[in-house]
Amino acid sequence: MSKPRVVLTRRWPAEVEAELAARFEVVLNLTDTPLDAAQLQRALLTADALCPTVTDRVDASVLAVTAPRARLIANYGVGFNHIDLNATKALGMAVTNTPGVLTDATADLALTLLLMTARRAGEGEREIRAGRWDGWRPTQLLGTEVTGKTLGLVGFGRIAQAVAQRAHFGFGMKILFQTPRPPPGELVASLNATACASVEQLLAESDFVSLHCPGGAATRHLINAERLALMKPSAFLINTARGEVVDEAALAVALAERRIAGAGLDVYAAEPEVPAALRDLENVVLLPHLGSATTATRIAMGRRVLANLEAFFAGETPPDRVI
Ligand code: DGY
Repeated sequence: MSKPRVVLTRRWPAEVEAELAARFEVVLNLTDTPLDAAQLQRALLTADALCPTVTDRVDASVLAVTAPRARLIANYGVGFNHIDLNATKALGMAVTNTPGVLTDATADLALTLLLMTARRAGEGEREIRAGRWDGWRPTQLLGTEVTGKTLGLVGFGRIAQAVAQRAHFGFGMKILFQTPRPPPGELVASLNATACASVEQLLAESDFVSLHCPGGAATRHLINAERLALMKPSAFLINTARGEVVDEAALAVALAERRIAGAGLDVYAAEPEVPAALRDLENVVLLPHLGSATTATRIAMGRRVLANLEAFFAGETPPDRVI
């Protein structure tokens, strides 16, 4: 029997590409250049499964194909707001993702951004690299104390909970959270965390706000000019979720006018484009979507995709089926 044909849209760690190639007829993207809409459509028409990443817009126009061969979109990543689920459903395609395996790496990166913004690490590094550092002095690059401050988490899923653990037990931070779904009571008790009735309440009471909600229409510009205005002038915004959750133009204004103290961003609305209004500011730390970027995590993500492909083509329900 011939092996199912599987298209990877980007390079993956070599070991998982090899594991995949042993089980499937794998089409690799050897140049690692993002596929355009026509190439994505060709993959849907000629392969049994497409394995996109967050950089591929598998939207309604790409999915407007007649009689696709693909029956599965096995996403390499946990977020799937780049895939139009209504269109895949209409085509009878299943969609899977890779939850769980990137929780720790992404939580670590949220803490990296939190500490970098509070302690002005980006500014310090730029100072040295530009040859501007003229030695230690009592008033140089004074930052904000993190220990004992209040951290507000918008969304309280796996990654937010891992951030809360690190912040509470590592830095003695008081944890606030806001989520539509009630989290496990024991976890809330162990963190001594407090649920906020609204995002507005959380923004007003937090020294650091970290975003952990999914992307998509429901959360687009959740953090807009009005909500930024509710934050303390001394507060920091951290985003490792999705760029579209924040109105980037409004954030740039709030940062430039020092209505909030700073921001740490790993995600952007139109990646890889980062608005110049943000790039020009000193009080924002900008990282290139590194949340899950550790070797171990990227291998684990690939293996998770592999498990989903194997289950699907064996006629079983894939472990991480989204629809
Ligand atoms: C995801 O998995 O959704 C991340 O944003 C990419 O690792």
